[in-house]
Amino acid sequence: MKKSEQNEKKTVLTGDRPTGRLHLGHYVGSIQNRVKLQEQYKQLLLVADVQALTDNADNPEKVRSNVMEVVLDNLACGIDPTKTTIFIQSMIPEIAELTIFFLNLVTVSRLERNPTVKDEMKQKGFGSSVPAGFLMYPVSQAADILAFKTNLVPVGEDQLPMIEQTNEIVEKFNRFYGKVFEKVEPIISSTPRLRGIDGQAKMGKSLNNAIYLSDTSAVVKEKVSSMYTDQNHLRVEDPGKVDGNPVFDYLTAFDPDRRGLEDLKNNYAKGGVGDVLVKNRLVEVLNSFLSPIRDKRADMEKNMDFVSKIVKDGTEEAREIASSILKDVKRAMKINYF
Ligand code: TRP
Repeated sequence: MKKSEQNEKKTVLTGDRPTGRLHLGHYVGSIQNRVKLQEQYKQLLLVADVQALTDNADNPEKVRSNVMEVVLDNLACGIDPTKTTIFIQSMIPEIAELTIFFLNLVTVSRLERNPTVKDEMKQKGFGSSVPAGFLMYPVSQAADILAFKTNLVPVGEDQLPMIEQTNEIVEKFNRFYGKVFEKVEPIISSTPRLRGIDGQAKMGKSLNNAIYLSDTSAVVKEKVSSMYTDQNHLRVEDPGKVDGNPVFDYLTAFDPDRRGLEDLKNNYAKGGVGDVLVKNRLVEVLNSFLSPIRDKRADMEKNMDFVSKIVKDGTEEAREIASSILKDVKRAMKINYF
């Protein structure tokens, strides 16, 4: 490919907070899109350690130890470091600079209305003592995105408010300082959000209801056996509910045998199909999906020097891009003194 063609490629960026290993919800919401998008676009993948610290300020060890876990999970799923630039957020000081500039373009009350932040505040029990850094993390996320003049962001639907916030910043920045940024577009996964194995609305690292990409087959079996199904489906003969039944949601997301799955759903709805049978199918489906991912992860774990080098090179490359974009930003803001 010619250099000029490469320059015209749109930029895709996503990120993960390193607060734990990644799970099936991450895969369905974002990773499966990343693996496809890297074929067509210039893709950046950020390990959001600064964002992770906004609600783990007292636990840097947790964040530190999960940086490489998150990288391994992505590589294991098929992120190709020759196509995707993987980097660490805190190593790009330009993101922090941009965050400070953007904070002038956002009101506190706007931040307090962000539905995702609101949910998280409730879940973490911050009450009225929310750390300022946590409240403003959507601004720092806008900086993650715009420090690379990103065009497309593949995310789960819970991240839509962040994209909205980013576009408000784009609009205001361009209005105040002249056009520097383009609007950003989310790419939402075609698979709806996965609930937790406990039937809660969201699979979450901190909710203890996730199946991890690195779970062993025995753990997957155990977790699936404990899963919620239709609470009113007590006897095998009873008609069962497919909609809203987490076991069927997972099968819909991962079972490659679509015809067989349709039959199973019909029979379950009619009555005569036991939960154990459905769960056994899910165990099989998940384990055959996860098996190559586990193998790849195990390979990479034996080569941690290589993995570190991927992240180090990626971080250097990302830094070059961000530093050139910050020059444009500072020129526009008239803070380019020398
Ligand atoms: N907030 C995202 C999450 O919790 C992680 C993230 C940080 C991100 N920076 C980003 C996602 C930039 C997309 C773009 O999963």
